[in-house]
Amino acid sequence: MEHVRALEQSMNPYPHYEAMRETAPVFHDEQTGMWQVFKYDDVHRVLSEHATFSSQRPDDDQSETGRLFAASLINTDPPRHRQLRSLVSQAFTPKAVDALAPRIAEITEELLDAFAPAGTADLVKELAYPLPVIVIAELMGIPAEDRDRFKLWSDAIVSTVTGDQGESGHALHGEMIEYFLSMIEQRRRTPGHDLISALLAAEIDGQQLTVPELLGFCALLLVAGNETTTNLIGNAVLTFTEHPGTVERLLAEPELLPHAIEEVLRYRSPVQAMYRAAAAETMLGDQSIPAGSVLIAWIGSANRDPRQFERAEEYDVDRPPFHHLAFGQGVHFCLGAPLARLEARIALQAVLARLPGISVLAEPPLERVDSTIVFGPKQLPVTWQQ
Ligand code: HEM
Repeated sequence: MEHVRALEQSMNPYPHYEAMRETAPVFHDEQTGMWQVFKYDDVHRVLSEHATFSSQRPDDDQSETGRLFAASLINTDPPRHRQLRSLVSQAFTPKAVDALAPRIAEITEELLDAFAPAGTADLVKELAYPLPVIVIAELMGIPAEDRDRFKLWSDAIVSTVTGDQGESGHALHGEMIEYFLSMIEQRRRTPGHDLISALLAAEIDGQQLTVPELLGFCALLLVAGNETTTNLIGNAVLTFTEHPGTVERLLAEPELLPHAIEEVLRYRSPVQAMYRAAAAETMLGDQSIPAGSVLIAWIGSANRDPRQFERAEEYDVDRPPFHHLAFGQGVHFCLGAPLARLEARIALQAVLARLPGISVLAEPPLERVDSTIVFGPKQLPVTWQQ
């Protein structure tokens, strides 16, 4: 796990990825037994060939998080995956998501009102973290006063992915399950216009979702919808301010912002890696991967592969259209991508408009969030002109 551990601390894993792409692009980590995959073409294959590279958790994963997510769509293969996904996909179409824009703008303005007069702030704490939490909580019909618990629960789940879960993580996990169970019961009695009520009403071939499946969905939306978008916003502010002229350019040409965000997704991918299990023996690069092997597909490395992107190590808002893997590829392609893109666009537009001359205060290297998978600055102290 040493390679993974080393990356965990770092806001700059890119030299490591480059070395691996050149020397051991499909690398068997003797210590963990896992296969690590670094090149764009190989990562693309691992993510998209679901018959060969399964998303199902190994049966021996009896961790709390393993059990919780076992029944959720991110850990299911077709055909079951297709059925589960169809249940939630209606809520996440670009059209359904666009309808949320006015409310997202309102929440963003309220958050900015609270700190904009100060002249300095930790942008992660004040904006990038709370915005996605509030949006997903509202979508799920969670009362405003319960939102603060979300952060703790979501952190607890993210830390289990890195194997760092302690006593308090265990307690928080239990608390979250209790909370969602009572929420599910309440919505069964009194349905509303929220996602949990919609999931309760949904049927596949006349069968309703089981309680473990419902819990898996709630936990997945909580984690997938929070940490990732927080880090996209943090990474974008960091990247824009690091590259002289970018902030001014985006102010002068606001229509460039969506493309500038896509380039951030490529350049500093908020999700750096995803796991798969080889369903059968297969060749990857020049390596033979035995059936049952666990693979880590390094999205963060694929998105900097010079075989796929010219000047891959450069952030370039004028890059011609390109295909990054930051939201995955194939049947598991991120369900929340339209929502993440919309939240990021609204938040960053507001940052540019209301925090003139924004710059990052901290000396590099910034501390990274505590995760091997999720990638972004833990804090982002910024200052701007009053
Ligand atoms: C799946 C990244 C935001 C919900 C994924 C996958 C990636 C990803 C890489 C593929 C997983 C795989 O192949 O195994 C991101 C990034 C985000 C983001 C970078 C923000 C910048 C969101 C949001 C939501 C969400 C806001 C929901 C509110 C999901 C769900 C899946 C998923 C439900 C599983 C889809 C499936 O298995 O069919 N995401 N995500 N994500 N994401 Fe996101």
